[in-house]
Amino acid sequence: MSESAGAVSAELGALTGSERGHAPNARDAVRGLRPSQIREVANAGFGIPDVLPFWFGESDRVTPQFIRDAASRALADGATFYTHNLGIAPLREALAGYVGELHGPTAPGHVAVTSAGVNALMLAAQLVAGAGDRVVAVTPLWPNLVEIPKILGAHVDTVALTYGADGWMLDVERLLAALTPATRMLMINSPNNPTGWTMTRDEQRTVLAHCRQHGIWIVADEVYERLYYGADGRVAPSFLDLATREERVIAVNSFSKAWLMTGWRLGWLVAPAALMDDLGKLVEYNTSCAPSFVQQAGVVAVREGEAFTRSLVADLHASRDHLVLALQSISGVDVRAPLGAMYLFFSLPGAEHSLELCKALVREAGLGLAPGSAFGSEGEGFVRWCYACDPARLDVGVERLRAFLASR
Ligand SMILES: Cc1ncc(COP(=O)(O)O)c(C=O)c1O
Repeated sequence: MSESAGAVSAELGALTGSERGHAPNARDAVRGLRPSQIREVANAGFGIPDVLPFWFGESDRVTPQFIRDAASRALADGATFYTHNLGIAPLREALAGYVGELHGPTAPGHVAVTSAGVNALMLAAQLVAGAGDRVVAVTPLWPNLVEIPKILGAHVDTVALTYGADGWMLDVERLLAALTPATRMLMINSPNNPTGWTMTRDEQRTVLAHCRQHGIWIVADEVYERLYYGADGRVAPSFLDLATREERVIAVNSFSKAWLMTGWRLGWLVAPAALMDDLGKLVEYNTSCAPSFVQQAGVVAVREGEAFTRSLVADLHASRDHLVLALQSISGVDVRAPLGAMYLFFSLPGAEHSLELCKALVREAGLGLAPGSAFGSEGEGFVRWCYACDPARLDVGVERLRAFLASR
């Protein structure tokens, strides 16, 4: 036995009997996190050839060439070092210009670069919520927004969107009732994953006024803001359109969706300047900074990517309409076209047990969809289909679904 192993076993010997009986587990808050049901379905599909993977929230297209070239150039030029915690100055400036053009004047001092949207969400939550705090989230929702505050020991209450003839809607009065003065933070995602529900400007105005009154922080996940199909513009309504930059609003965003950069792990948040010193400390202790050459590619994406984003959104819009029409031709499928994001969240026979249905779909039909229950109990009865792909593949998927349902 090595010296250190001997020391460890001597230390273990010092534990009481009941301490020894416990396995070396993670904290209760971590053990209590929900595992991903999408992953569970994907695992059920392992080894099955030719599965159509519409379950993850990502396009089947590679990042545009001009952005990949920018990263290659940055690497060749030696951009391999740590950067400022809050991001390189050219990227913060470029993002401030971009956000400013979409949502009104924004200074670089209000922008921080993060390691993608999920890290921005974690940092935002770490900034304002801690153990014992009450957090409210609007569901169905991408699980990370609900689970992240729990990692910090916060308590999360949910307010469900309702589903009716007009698709998914927010009952604003119910949300306001849940946003009590004892609430620390609202986590809200619009356009929403998984439903595509998109908050109206009036709803945002009402919620913002209420949160102002009670001092509640709004963490607005706006990573799908450019994937918006409303007739009124090229970006979804944002809390940034209404709030000043110095109040309790943190807007989370990402390069993953509008520039197809999921694997690069680059995002940002817009927050009051008063938070930035503390945010810098949190970035230091989480990731220290986003990768240098990735940030440099981000500058090019923001500065030169507008035409690309617009054509991407036009393609997604067409794919959405294509898939809605195709699914509507299957009896028993109830589907509507939402205003934003890149998913259809729809009901069909068997979806009352959506996890089981999705496992059967992948095993028996080679069709990979995400179960609605992965997004909270309110999502049960639905499945999510990411339509960010070639319409011809969507058609193959629709025919697989049609045959699967007919065989039951
Ligand atoms: C609602 C929502 N927020 C944030 C993210 C984070 O994306 P990323 O970490 O790739 O920026 C996603 C990813 O799918 C999402 O759906």
